[in-house]
Amino acid sequence: MHLSDRVRAISPSPTVGIDTRAKEMARQGVDVINLGAGEPDFDTPEFIKEAARQAINEGFTKYTPVAGIPELRRAICEKLERDNGLSYEPAQILVSNGAKQVLYQAYQAVCEPGDEAIVIGPYWVSYTEMVKLAGAEPVVVPTREEDGFVPDPDAIAEKVTPRTRVINLNSPNNPAGSVYPRRALEAIAELAVRHDLWVFSDEIYEKLVYDGAEHVSIASLGPEIKRRTLVVNGVSKAYAMTGWRMGYGAGDRDLIRAMDGLQGHLSHGISSITQRACVAALTGSQEPVAEMRREFDRRRRLVVDRLNAMPGITCPTPRGAFYAYPNVSGLFGRRARGKVLDGSSAVAGWLLEEGRIAAVPGVAFGDDRFLRLSYATAYEAIAEAMDRMASLVAGLER
Ligand SMILES: Cc1ncc(COP(=O)(O)O)c(C=O)c1O
Repeated sequence: MHLSDRVRAISPSPTVGIDTRAKEMARQGVDVINLGAGEPDFDTPEFIKEAARQAINEGFTKYTPVAGIPELRRAICEKLERDNGLSYEPAQILVSNGAKQVLYQAYQAVCEPGDEAIVIGPYWVSYTEMVKLAGAEPVVVPTREEDGFVPDPDAIAEKVTPRTRVINLNSPNNPAGSVYPRRALEAIAELAVRHDLWVFSDEIYEKLVYDGAEHVSIASLGPEIKRRTLVVNGVSKAYAMTGWRMGYGAGDRDLIRAMDGLQGHLSHGISSITQRACVAALTGSQEPVAEMRREFDRRRRLVVDRLNAMPGITCPTPRGAFYAYPNVSGLFGRRARGKVLDGSSAVAGWLLEEGRIAAVPGVAFGDDRFLRLSYATAYEAIAEAMDRMASLVAGLER
């Protein structure tokens, strides 16, 4: 049977692939340690769950406005004002099934076939596929380990053509853990304004920053850049709510209206129950967020220290999100059971088969020298994974 070129052009998500394989091994009784997943291991805070139970008890279980219930859109406006110094009207907010759907719709709303979208590398796996699904072409601008994985505005400028429509930013960054400093964002903002480009700013890891790093939303750098930026955020990572499916976009009224029109045919408003839970998350105590962040920080220091002690591996210290992103290219050419480790997929495969540790090969994010290890799992499990990995590395043949 025929399948469209459009869907055949999509690469399956490698992060979901690893996660599925690790979960399958666990089901078969293998004591696999899953450092592949991109979700907090914490439970959703109780007061948020209580708001959902209350919504069900009150019969708040019907269709809602496509863009979200007014209380939630207001709560999002208040959050953006409080945390980011950004002032929006509720009509500039769209609530979707996760940041993922916001971004998908945003690309659909602004791209024509043949357009280009600049994606900063290493990149979250879905950006390039979403760009392709909108008929456009992803143009990857890599960042460098030596620059702390912060984008170089000049390198972006070199890739701007008359077909460029969007610059896609993600800070704090998945997978590299970089947090873009204000001065880099200022230069990118100036570039976007000069070339009349959209900026899609994925700020989903905003709350997870360490070592005094400051999250800056590019939209807060002035009215010109605010007008052309879609700020994308959500509750998945900050409130341990990945399964509830809520993300939002804030930006230009016409863009939001266009995305609302699309969503009306795609999925309508998101779960009414989730929306009530999200009002509680955004307006209630933020202490659970701070608590989770402290624990992520403790794990971050453990994983970075242990990785850097392994010969052949260097791990820059991430300042945001919950991933370590070690350079494992020093292991390439070494042999494990006679098989040569010749790239990040071979290293990830070896760790999974020999060490029962699931990690995502960097090739999935556009750089084969790296590996992504999520520290959104228990401290003791990370310590055990590092013991296993250290002994595997020590046992490698020359
Ligand atoms: C950078 C980035 N953006 C967006 C998402 C998706 O978030 P949501 O659960 O809100 O769809 C993820 C999830 O892994 C992510 O890493």
